[in-house]
Amino acid sequence: MNEAEAASRAAELRETINRHAHLYYVLDAPEIDDAAYDALYRELQALEEEYPHLRTPDSPTQRVGGAPLEGFTQVRHLEPMLSLANARNEEELLAWDQRNRRLLEAQGLGEERFRYVVEPKIDGLAISLTYRDGVFVVGATRGNGEVGEDVTANLRTIGSIPLRLLTREPPPVVEARGEVYLPLAAFRRLNEQRIAAGLPAFVNPRNSAAGSIRQLDPRLAAARPLDVWCYGIGYSEGLDLQDHTGALEWLRAAGFKVNPDIVTVEGIEQVAAAARSWEERRADLDYDIDGAVVKVDAFALQRALGSVAHDPRWAIAFKFAPSTMTTRLHSIEVNVGRTGVLTPFAVLEPVFVGGVTVERATLHNEDDIRRKDIRPGDDVIVQRAGDVIPQVVGPVTTGEVEDEEGRRVSREARHAALPEWSMPRTCPACGAETVRETGEVAVRCPNRSCPAQLIESIKHFVSKGAMDIEGIGDETVALLHQQGLIENVADLYGLERDHFVRVEAGKVVALPGFGGKTRKGPDGGLELVEAKRADKVLAAIEQSKQRPFARVLFALGIRHVGGVTAQALVERYPSMDALLSARAEDLAEVPGIGPVVAEAVEQYLGAEHNRETIEKLRAAGVRLVEESPARAEGPLTGSTFVLTGKLPTLTRGQAQELIEAAGGRVSSSVSRATDYVVAGEDAGSKLDKASRLGVAVIDEAALLELIGDGGEGRQDGQLALS
Ligand code: IVH
Repeated sequence: MNEAEAASRAAELRETINRHAHLYYVLDAPEIDDAAYDALYRELQALEEEYPHLRTPDSPTQRVGGAPLEGFTQVRHLEPMLSLANARNEEELLAWDQRNRRLLEAQGLGEERFRYVVEPKIDGLAISLTYRDGVFVVGATRGNGEVGEDVTANLRTIGSIPLRLLTREPPPVVEARGEVYLPLAAFRRLNEQRIAAGLPAFVNPRNSAAGSIRQLDPRLAAARPLDVWCYGIGYSEGLDLQDHTGALEWLRAAGFKVNPDIVTVEGIEQVAAAARSWEERRADLDYDIDGAVVKVDAFALQRALGSVAHDPRWAIAFKFAPSTMTTRLHSIEVNVGRTGVLTPFAVLEPVFVGGVTVERATLHNEDDIRRKDIRPGDDVIVQRAGDVIPQVVGPVTTGEVEDEEGRRVSREARHAALPEWSMPRTCPACGAETVRETGEVAVRCPNRSCPAQLIESIKHFVSKGAMDIEGIGDETVALLHQQGLIENVADLYGLERDHFVRVEAGKVVALPGFGGKTRKGPDGGLELVEAKRADKVLAAIEQSKQRPFARVLFALGIRHVGGVTAQALVERYPSMDALLSARAEDLAEVPGIGPVVAEAVEQYLGAEHNRETIEKLRAAGVRLVEESPARAEGPLTGSTFVLTGKLPTLTRGQAQELIEAAGGRVSSSVSRATDYVVAGEDAGSKLDKASRLGVAVIDEAALLELIGDGGEGRQDGQLALS
């Protein structure tokens, strides 16, 4: 190959590779696989190696390269990069439309409805990309709008930015404008890698995009999977475009990545609908958006409207309720839960985020606070998406703030000077020394009479899904506890009307909010006519005695026992007595229950004070037995079985099902009420107990015989009575 042939082959390769890059990065529709792409790329590299002058700026081999920069040079934008005024709600959007129409009417350009373009407002970094004769020559950040920083080397590494325009006859100069961003999936991956490498995680995709584009070493920028959405044309020469829709089409054809879901609509009503539809889609997108941008479509109208200060009148940002906001973290406080776990939470300067005012946010646990390095006094990013509980993402350590004396200080320095936070050594509710078990993240208060734990466990007991006692909310629980009327959940059933409201020494004595109606009695003293609220609460307490056993079990607030677990336990152990005699190893055999839950249940039921509470509930008439659904009638009706050891063919579950289908009951522990113990291999203590109590022990075959399923091949089917 001579030099001329090499030059023409290189040009061909550049075009082919750039076309495939466009298919891959912009259209997301590759036509060749990575290996074929690599082969073309290496062929071009080899040619350029031999003839270095073939290394043109639009060569795909030149995306990553060059030495790290000393610093960024400044570039003056060919046309200022403007910003956008905001509409915070639909009213402001309508007002904007009305003003536009008034202004245009005054110029004789009045129309009933205008065409508008509705675009996503990408939460990234504004950039300008200048092309001369079709070749990418300068890429810059927005800076102050007039002058930005030259980040060409870093922008070249973004695969979806064309190095040469795909248009056959490119204009002499054109400036594409757009937003650089980090896709959310890439952001998450990047943070995982950083955490694994012991580096601090980025607070949000915007910050990481900004940090990446300002890397002095383009190889580092190349390692960040940045992308770009183009949304407009700045300065240009030799283009003849009539409207914004046309400009977007031109950009698309030239090879830029333009959002496919941008819509052109007629009239402001449709604009509002389109903006709302963007807001609804927000959570499903792979990029952060913080609003919709609305633009008057026709360039003639745009020119007529002009700009005020730095904002064009022809465009507006319709802001969504932000899902993240920065605010000051005043302090970190601690809640004590019903199981004694101390949970830290953030006390924040109230901030409007995700559509609500947030003053508190969860902080999970001590380790998480350390990991994120959140310190009281920090400016933190608060996140609230959809219905989720507000979270503190982390401290903001970039930029500047005013300190107490009004001096500007870097947030980094301010953060570094703040003391780190640590979990209190003593329980904030009762003062007991807290404990953190090895291997656990949770710090807990070990004092079982800690008032916070008692109150929280009663709140849980009365809540919906548990005993669902209407009329007793968090405040009433706190009130009743404070009055010394309830120490634990069983005390609820000892409450009487007098506790809420009574006449004493001629006066009404009532808990706040529980007063009643009185009248003068025949002897001249006061008597209570009615006490509606107290009576309602007492009726609700009475009613709660009828809750199914599974609900009672859940309401007790045993660690790890949620509604589903409680139900699973009750299916195997249909009474409190059955449960009380179960051991952790038995419990762990219940489907869906692991050793941790089993351990927690055994521990709870084994504790003396919990047994006392349970006995009080029993005495009050709370249901501690599962009303079993109509039992099957069969040969085993009236017989109770206990299974032990490993049976030769049936699993425990299968054996239980067979027994129950035949009308029998399966219990977990051997007692005088047990009719048969079905023993398999490695049967343990239950066998001993059976022989002590004189309970019949049978094997699997005998069980099947009893059921009447002793089919062929089961010869040893006689009862093996002990
Ligand atoms: S148009 C003449 N369109 O929002 C208006 N801007 O506050 C200039 N942005 O600096 C911008 N998505 O960084 C426009 N579809 C979009 C946008 C968008 C995000 C950013 C851009 C700009 C800022 C304006």
